[in-house]
Amino acid sequence: MLGIIGGSGLYDVDDIKVIEEIQINTPYGEPSDRYIHAEYKGKEVFFLPRHGRGHKFPPHLINYRANIWGFRKLGVDKILAVSAVGGINPLLKPGDFVISDQFIDFTKVRPVTFYEGIYTVFDEADKNDDLVNEYLKNNRVVHIDVTEPFCPHMRSILFEILEQHNFRYHSKGTYVATEGPRLETSAEIRAFSQLGADIVGMTLVPEITLARELSMHFASINVVTNLAAGISEGRLTSDEVIQMIHQKNEELKKVILSFIELYPEKLSCNCSSVLEGAAI
Ligand code: HPA
Repeated sequence: MLGIIGGSGLYDVDDIKVIEEIQINTPYGEPSDRYIHAEYKGKEVFFLPRHGRGHKFPPHLINYRANIWGFRKLGVDKILAVSAVGGINPLLKPGDFVISDQFIDFTKVRPVTFYEGIYTVFDEADKNDDLVNEYLKNNRVVHIDVTEPFCPHMRSILFEILEQHNFRYHSKGTYVATEGPRLETSAEIRAFSQLGADIVGMTLVPEITLARELSMHFASINVVTNLAAGISEGRLTSDEVIQMIHQKNEELKKVILSFIELYPEKLSCNCSSVLEGAAI
């Protein structure tokens, strides 16, 4: 089953039928909002706005663990995330889509794992008989591999869709995750550029790593909403970010709907076996 993070405004699409809104409680606290359970062309999907409706939570205070655990409770094993990013690579223009393939983590204060050894929380209500529960029940410490953090099969489906629609996109890119909520200094962006970062945002980590800790597949559609600090002339504003996301909303909807229609239940990749041999 597919879960979509972000994507607010999608549910007004005619062909999407909202079935219900679901409140989920988790041992990690409350997710950002109710999940929207919907159907499109006979396929079910769950949506969650990561900042909550009305944009209630800043990036560093989003309860990423609750959001991802909530998806697990709903039976989601694939997550497609939509994110706004600043462009660092000079080849990028505002409005471009980037299907990232790597990340660099500069976040600082966020809970980063479900597996905290003796501090681990076990969800009694979760009856899945899998490695996640085995590790949680036994207070194991888990080191997941993130050599290739994004699902290669989900990414290749996105390429196909973006080609078909003739949307301007980049088939790879390194996302540097910053803590926020402040934007970056020009010196930080110069440093990130030298480290090999192409785009900058505040939400990918730990969203992706937590999903991976639950053996989920994860891909991200990043929208370049602005050129990053010091590359852009003048100061950055949230207004320009929101304006660009609105401008790209129709295209984003098309990409997401095509993805719901096209993705197969079984993907050809190794994402689902990442927990094998990962615990100490
Ligand atoms: N920096 C960090 N996060 C962002 C940016 C940016 O320039 N644009 C959109 N999200």
